Amino acid sequence: MNHKTVYLETMGCQMNVLDSELVLEQLRTRGYAPTGEMHEADLVLINTCSVRAHAEDKAFSRLGSLKKSIRNKPDRVVGVIGCMAERDPDGIFQKMKHVDLVCGPAELYKLPAMIEEVRQGHRHLVALTVNKSRRNSPLERSTEYDSVEAFDLSRDPGSDAGVVQSYLRVQRGCDKFCTFCVVPFTRGPERSRPPGQIVGEARMLADHGCKEITLLGQTVNSYVNQNNGRAVHFADLLARVHEVEGIERIRFVTSYPGDFTSDIFQAMRDLPKVCEYLHLPVQSGSNAVLKRMRRQYTVERFCELVAEARETVPDITLATDFIVGFCGETEQEFEESCELTRRCDFKNIFCFKYSERLETVAGKRFPDDVPIEVKRRRNNTLLKIQEEISLRNNQALAGRIVEVLVESYSKAALKAQEAEQSRGSELSWRRSDQLVGRTRGDQIVVFPGRPEDIGRLAKVRLTEATALTLQGCLARGSRQQARGKRQ
Ligand code: SAH
Ligand code: F3S
Repeated sequence: MNHKTVYLETMGCQMNVLDSELVLEQLRTRGYAPTGEMHEADLVLINTCSVRAHAEDKAFSRLGSLKKSIRNKPDRVVGVIGCMAERDPDGIFQKMKHVDLVCGPAELYKLPAMIEEVRQGHRHLVALTVNKSRRNSPLERSTEYDSVEAFDLSRDPGSDAGVVQSYLRVQRGCDKFCTFCVVPFTRGPERSRPPGQIVGEARMLADHGCKEITLLGQTVNSYVNQNNGRAVHFADLLARVHEVEGIERIRFVTSYPGDFTSDIFQAMRDLPKVCEYLHLPVQSGSNAVLKRMRRQYTVERFCELVAEARETVPDITLATDFIVGFCGETEQEFEESCELTRRCDFKNIFCFKYSERLETVAGKRFPDDVPIEVKRRRNNTLLKIQEEISLRNNQALAGRIVEVLVESYSKAALKAQEAEQSRGSELSWRRSDQLVGRTRGDQIVVFPGRPEDIGRLAKVRLTEATALTLQGCLARGSRQQARGKRQ
């Protein structure tokens, strides 16, 4: 058995986080131990994101910094995995001569064999299929799909027993081809996994102590699996995952407004485990911009969905994504995004400055003509509008008791513990230690608690708030309740 170390750094979306977890599991069974020290590791993998240029620059900078320890580690294997690998393998090898392999997101099941090949002296290995098939025909299905599926099926959370939250892939790829977005080119065609496999994986995660599952897909609500002439849609899938014993919360990201149907809102209302939270990226508040983006819905339709969500699902919280400075975005069109933000009462927004991706329709046909200073200003303006809304809404929650799934110590508490350990003191619980968790509506809550509260559902009485976090204290009886439930 191999006794080597692997350093794996993950950039980008939840899909990458899940892919990294699965890669680590595969490597662990082959004798690799994870390490946090990049320069000491025998195997370095960077799981990359291509959605914006900034993410790619960051990956190059990490890879570049590896050069300084090349001499100490001549046998080290360096791999680039994820969307950037799929997008520009030649560019990676040209710029980073010390990279041994690149492997696209749909090819990760090949990774252990590729690493072995490099160890045997081969270099510059490439595993990509999505790109090739996309070049031939946008909807072509990869003949290797069964192997891709095998990657998810190989999941074995054994070493992660006790992890309370997990991601679960229900869909791969995307067929929407929004004009700004690189994802259909890097992650390939949209494919929904069979519901039986998804439920089986949920059951296995629950058996290992998982309480909250987040179903993942690029357009997760468009999920549809056909079997023997019968179609299982996303609302049906929610109902099936809901039956898995031990799972207490179900979330899903990311939804595509153009395909959202009322049965999903009804499922959210009727299935108690499905959390009242919806991430529904709008991208712009201007119909003209949405058209240039080829988003296939209007601002009016989006607002109807928001109204239906609030009507059908009591206490639902909504989050969205905006892109500012998309090709040709005028001041007036940007103002419409501000207007929509004021109107929709989002819990939070993710706001991105448009970043040109050359293979996309916008990259090929539309000039990237909004200056960077204007993008920056619009980004700040929109975030400021939302910050005021979030602060007001969060402060209005004071006095409420909410259910929190406790995730970990807060960052501040972890830092204090690290400092204490480095002074050589024993770790001990202090009354002031803050824990952090999330409400069903995905709000972050910080409160003083004990280590044994981590991984539990707690009732917290909210006291204060900022725009980003809620603060509170354990509601009386919460701990007894948690214990009672376990017995
Ligand atoms: N449906 C996917 C979208 C992936 S990209 C999901 O799971 O979230 C995530 C977000 O990045 C998009 O919603 C969009 O707001 C932003 N984005 C995508 N391409 C971009 C680009 N070229 N420039 C700036 N932001 C972009
Ligand atoms: Fe990208 Fe649009 Fe799909 S944002 S992931 S092409 S829905």
